[in-house]
Amino acid sequence: MIFQKLSEKQKQIFRWCYQPDSYALICDGSVRSGKTAAMSCSFVHWAMSQFDHQNFAFCGNTVQATERNILMTIQQMTDITYYYTLKYIGSKHVLTISGGGHENYFYIFGGKDESSYKLVQGITLDGILFDEVALQPESFVNQAIARTLSVENAKLWFNCNPDSPEHWFYKQWILQTDAGERPDVLHLHFEMQDNPIMTPEKIAKTTTLYSGVFYDRYIKGLWVLAEGLVYGTVFDKNRHVIEKYDDSNATDYYISIDYGTLNPCSMGLWALEQDKAVRIREYYHDGRKKGVQLTDEEYYAELEKLGDGYPIRHVIIDPSASSFIATIKRHGKFRIRKANNSVIDGIRNTMTLLEHDKILICECCKDIIREFSLYRWDDKKSYEKDTVIKENDHAMDDMRYFVNTAMSRILRKNLQE
Ligand SMILES: Nc1ncnc2c1ncn2[C@@H]1O[C@H](COP(=O)(O)OP(=O)(O)OP(=O)(O)O)[C@@H](O)[C@H]1O
Ligand SMILES: [Mg+2]
Repeated sequence: MIFQKLSEKQKQIFRWCYQPDSYALICDGSVRSGKTAAMSCSFVHWAMSQFDHQNFAFCGNTVQATERNILMTIQQMTDITYYYTLKYIGSKHVLTISGGGHENYFYIFGGKDESSYKLVQGITLDGILFDEVALQPESFVNQAIARTLSVENAKLWFNCNPDSPEHWFYKQWILQTDAGERPDVLHLHFEMQDNPIMTPEKIAKTTTLYSGVFYDRYIKGLWVLAEGLVYGTVFDKNRHVIEKYDDSNATDYYISIDYGTLNPCSMGLWALEQDKAVRIREYYHDGRKKGVQLTDEEYYAELEKLGDGYPIRHVIIDPSASSFIATIKRHGKFRIRKANNSVIDGIRNTMTLLEHDKILICECCKDIIREFSLYRWDDKKSYEKDTVIKENDHAMDDMRYFVNTAMSRILRKNLQE
């Protein structure tokens, strides 16, 4: 990439580190607002102009995410490659940058990777760029910062999208900086308009990608709590529930399962079209309520009944349901896909699809319709980390498995840039 021109906010990213008494920079705010690109370029220029034969770190959520978000950005940035030579050794996760008579080493760490904890303990760092710091554990961030304390001119660079207002980073860094308690820290709040390539059309398109709490955080850039009904602002019976389904446009059929023995077991039969999915039938058994626990074989018989007459491409199931997966395999009739079970991503994707009417529900699917009006964020636990209440979440979970596993193409193709 080449920086077209820099926005005023981005220019501040390039200037702050040369000012006296500047210790840390925090850039928070909307997605695609030009935080990572400007910070990583500025970070490299600062390190290369001020230091020689020193160590630096790029820290992200995982090593892989950091390689993708930072390393690849830098390697493709003409504003860096024109001045410096870059050499990355993947096995050691270290990028050597040389030029202008200096050579420095940039280590890549992942806050969620066990090995990064150990590696970061043994190293002295002159500067750290934390990309998406709100996704990294506090203990990891503090350990990394501790590695800079013996260096006089070390500087810290943080960027993130907002999370809960109770998040440790918001409270300890952003609020304290805003309150004037950290005079050597600069806080810049970014919106999409602060990225020169974000035209009004691109902004409008990106805006449609999020709803509910994710809209407030990723579009408006606000630190807000996930509370109330999870799908409260998007699910609308008048829009999403249909009386009957004509399957002439269906290209595939799937069954998604949230398995439970004591807890309810929910299965949804989905028809997938080019650009949407319809839940056409479902099976829901609440063993506790009905006072009857079913065996895996009995559940399997229900699965066959649900799929009867439909060419089922895959049964999508929670990977932890190992006994039931074994039963399905033994019968040799259905192909299995283990569900991608990442909760918050799944909820965000489902919200986006509902917002665009890409998920419809036949009115015979009473239990999922019921759960839509009951499934809630856990207002107490969500203070620390977005958490849903583990009740009335069975059809919600099977839908999430389906969305995460079978609808990613529709998400990408129809909704993203
Ligand atoms: N001044 C600029 N000139 C040209 N392209 C830019 C400029 N600033 C940012 N970009 C490009 O805009 C895109 C989004 O920028 P970036 O990834 O830095 O945003 P971000 O704020 O980190 O977003 P997120 O919060 O989603 O991580 C990237 O492709 C980046 O290369
Ligand atoms: Mg970024």
